[in-house]
Amino acid sequence: MADSAKLILDGNEYELPIVEGSENEKAIDIGSLRAKTGYVTIDGGYKNTGACYSAITYLDGEQGILRYRGYAIEDLAEKAEFLEVAYLIIYGTLPTPTEYDAFKSEIRHHSIIHEDMRHFFDGFPSSGHPMSILSSMVCSLSAYYPDSLDADPGDDLQITRLLSKIRTLVAFGYKKSIGHPVMYPRNDLSYCGNFMHMMFANPAEPYEPDPVIVKAINTLLILHADHEQNCSTSTVRLVGSSNANLYAAVSAGILALWGPLHGGANQAVIEMLQEIQDSGGDYKGFMEKVKDKSSGVRLMGFGHRVYKNYDPRAKVLKGMADKLLPHLKVNDPLLDIAKNLEAIALEDPYFVERNLYPNVDFYSGIVYRALGIPVNMFTVMFALGRLPGWIGQWREMMLDPGKKIGRPRQIYTGENARDFVPLAKR
Ligand code: CMC
Repeated sequence: MADSAKLILDGNEYELPIVEGSENEKAIDIGSLRAKTGYVTIDGGYKNTGACYSAITYLDGEQGILRYRGYAIEDLAEKAEFLEVAYLIIYGTLPTPTEYDAFKSEIRHHSIIHEDMRHFFDGFPSSGHPMSILSSMVCSLSAYYPDSLDADPGDDLQITRLLSKIRTLVAFGYKKSIGHPVMYPRNDLSYCGNFMHMMFANPAEPYEPDPVIVKAINTLLILHADHEQNCSTSTVRLVGSSNANLYAAVSAGILALWGPLHGGANQAVIEMLQEIQDSGGDYKGFMEKVKDKSSGVRLMGFGHRVYKNYDPRAKVLKGMADKLLPHLKVNDPLLDIAKNLEAIALEDPYFVERNLYPNVDFYSGIVYRALGIPVNMFTVMFALGRLPGWIGQWREMMLDPGKKIGRPRQIYTGENARDFVPLAKR
C-alpha cells in the first residue's frame, strides 16, 4: 500500500499521508491541507469524510458485518446481556464477573430520579412526543448533578447515573401520557425487567415481567447499542467536543435520532405499513410513489448510508419477529405486509440498482408493537439502546489527547462586500 497520496494543485505537488485502520480501511489524512495549500475539502453529508479514529465499532457495509469491539453482533444479540454490552462498548473489554457485579450494582443504585424531576412530567401535554420529553429530561439531569458540568470522561458516576435513570425517565413519561400513576423502580429486577415493570405494572395488581419479553427487550437494546459515526453519534461527539457535559451531548443526540431519516424511521415504517393495509394492500401504487422522486415518499426502513447489503440487525429482527409473535399469540397483519413489501422491493430494479435493503428499522417496529410498546415510543426504545454507544463514543473522544473542537469549514456562496442602505432609501 502507498504510504502517501500526491495532490497536484496550481502546478505544485503536495504529499498527504495515508492512514489505515485495523480492518485495512484506508484514508487520506488531509489534516495539513489548508495550512499547506489554502484549500479545504467539500463533502456534503460527510459521505467520504472520516471524522475520527475509533476503536469501538467496525462496520463493513458491503459485506453486512457489524462488530462491537471485535465481537459479532449476532453473537452478542444471542448470548450477552445488554449491560455487559454497554460495559464492553464504553470501557473496551467484556467485564470480569467482579467488574460486572460492581457496574450493575452502581446502575441499580441510581434508578430513582430526583423527586422534583417527577413533577416536570405534569407540565408536558399528555400528547407530547416522547422524544422531545426524553431529550428535555436528559438535559435537565445536568441541572440536578452540577458535578457533571466538568465533562470529565473519568467520572464513571455520570455514566452509570445516565444508564440507570434514562429507563425511569422513559417509563415515567409513558405513564404520564396514559394518565397512570408512575411506578417506582424495583431494583431486585434486571435492567430490562425493571424497565418493563416501570412501563407496564400498576399499583392495583401484582406484576412479574415475562422472561421471554425481557429477553426480547435485551436483544433489541443490544442490536441498537452502537453504529459508529451515524447522525446522532456524530451529534453527540460534536456537542461534546466543546466540552459541554455528557447529559447535554446525549440530549442533543436524542434529538438527532428523532428524525425519520434516522431513528424516527421505526415509527414511520409502521405508519407506512398501516397505510398500505388501509389501501387494501395496494403495493403497486405505493411502490410507484416511492420510485417517483417528486412524491417525496421513501420506502421507510430501507436503504442505508453505509450498508449496501442486508443490514445484519434487520436479519436478527426478522427472525425474532417470526419467533416472538407466535409466543405472544400476536397475529399482526403488518408483519405479512412487511414481508410482502420486502420481497417486492428486493426484486425491483430500482432497489436492486441502488443496493437498497431492509435496515434495522424495518422489522423492529413490528417487534415493539407485539411487546405492547406504543408506536410513538419506538424511537425512544432506539435511544435507550443507543445510549451506551453515545456514552462510549463521547468518552473515547474526551480521552483522546488530540481532541479538537468540531468546527467544519464552508464554501461561502453569498453576496460580496456591499454598502449598507439606510431603511428610508430601500
Ligand atoms: N426509498 C426510496 N429510495 C431510496 C431510499 C428509500 N428508502 N433510500 C435511498 N433511496 C434512493 C435515493 O432516492 C437515491 O436515489 P438516486 O440515486 O436516484 O438519487 C439513492 O437511493 C441513494 O440514496 P441517498 O438518499 O443518496 O442515500 P443516503 O446514504 O444519503 O441516505 C438513508 C441513507 C438511510 C437516509 C436513506 O436510505 C433513506 O432515506 N431511507 C429511508 C429512511 C430510513 O429507513 N432510515 C433509517 C436508517 S437505519 C437506522 C439508522 O438511522 O441508523
